[in-house]
Amino acid sequence: MSRLVVISNRVAVPSGDGSSRAGGLEVAVRATLKRHSGVWFGWSGRVATNEKAVTQTIERDNHSYVVTDLTEEDYQEYYNGFANRVLWPILHYRLDLAEFSRRDLSGYLRVNAHFAAELHGILRPDDVIWVHDYHLIPLAKALRERGHANRIGFFLHIPLPPPDILTALPNHERLIPALCHYDLVGFQTDNDAANFARYLTNECRLPSRDQHTFSAADRTVRIDTFPVGIETAEFGRLARRAARSSFVEGVLESLAGRAMIIGADRLDYTKGIALRMDAFERFLETYPDWQGKVTYLQITPKSRSEIQEYGDMERQISATAGRINGNYGEASWTPIRYVNKSHSRTALAGLYRCSRAGLVTPLRDGMNLVAKEYVAAQDANDPGTLILSRFAGAAVELDAALLVNPYDTEAVAGAIARALSMPPDERRARHEALCHALAASDIKFWADRFLTALTRPPKPANWLRQVSSLAVS
Ligand code: F6P
Repeated sequence: MSRLVVISNRVAVPSGDGSSRAGGLEVAVRATLKRHSGVWFGWSGRVATNEKAVTQTIERDNHSYVVTDLTEEDYQEYYNGFANRVLWPILHYRLDLAEFSRRDLSGYLRVNAHFAAELHGILRPDDVIWVHDYHLIPLAKALRERGHANRIGFFLHIPLPPPDILTALPNHERLIPALCHYDLVGFQTDNDAANFARYLTNECRLPSRDQHTFSAADRTVRIDTFPVGIETAEFGRLARRAARSSFVEGVLESLAGRAMIIGADRLDYTKGIALRMDAFERFLETYPDWQGKVTYLQITPKSRSEIQEYGDMERQISATAGRINGNYGEASWTPIRYVNKSHSRTALAGLYRCSRAGLVTPLRDGMNLVAKEYVAAQDANDPGTLILSRFAGAAVELDAALLVNPYDTEAVAGAIARALSMPPDERRARHEALCHALAASDIKFWADRFLTALTRPPKPANWLRQVSSLAVS
């Protein structure tokens, strides 16, 4: 295959010390690049102090990592601004949290243009380009304007809401149709893909043959669903090893025989952590026999802390954990262990394996790879139970989990009780069904399917002759 050029806002340059961030996108791209040599381009994670953004190339394990700094202005307007205070909440159906005064697109477009300018010097005509996530919606357009006719694909890791919500996005008519400059646009679920198809049909009036292939000016764009997976077998092996590590043994010892429930999420309002804690409180209240016998470990590394909504949420979650521990805790038992430290993949794998239940209850999530990792980490003979939000993309495949409505704290409390007292036969049967779902689409399958679809020559499109006169802006 031609060279693969992956582009995302975050780039996980191998550090050599085994430390890593836990974002789903980075896990997926890193696993993909193990099988395809190429380039990974994006933000260095640094904010240049002197207006001068430096771009540098780091060669590691047969890959080139090309990373570029952001200026303070770019960082505020693009990352803290339009991407994370406007696009992120709206694409997660949270119009109430969108900062509408940040409607200015210019910083976001400027950084996309900067990425395109840096890529211009790197790209070869036969490179296959794969762009990831909501930070980079207009990147293909910026590259096309510089004359790049490569196959360019886009994958959205987060949800895409229905047109009724998407049209609340300031400047949506300038931004969303720019996705038509890609050859292939991939989504996590059929629901997300159908929402985009409806947007193109209703808002842009683009003709389509089958709601999968749309014609926009002189181009066609294909839309499809590619649910992102994990390195299932490898994660299972990691969990088996990690469960015997001194770190996990130390945690188990500290529980003094109590059952453990685990949650692991970036500190983000989409993850529903405060409501999850409320549900745990409701569980302790409704099923008092469990008081003193179960510990809920919530691992939540901080994220996007400079953004006001994140600061507010951080305070709310700490207060909730404090309140519950104050009300129910005893000198010898803390009901909730709330930890902001990030943990290595290995440590998490071991903790998942030793937990009787995994609580994955986002209010809205593109996929949620923690749910898949929790399943992969279990001992098939004595598996824990996954409690999963019906609003996570993962719920489509993992429907053998205990599916819950995360807003309904009483129902989540009931699911916790059910998970903790579930007979072994039922746990094994559910786990087997979940493993089948994981086996059907691991990370390799995801990347191969996307790249095959992207590099497949476009079908001869005689229907295109009747193309819409609507130009894609
Ligand atoms: O998976 C969604 C995502 O926004 C990624 O694009 C991102 O890298 C990750 O979550 C973590 O967020 P951030 O890069 O803002 O820390």
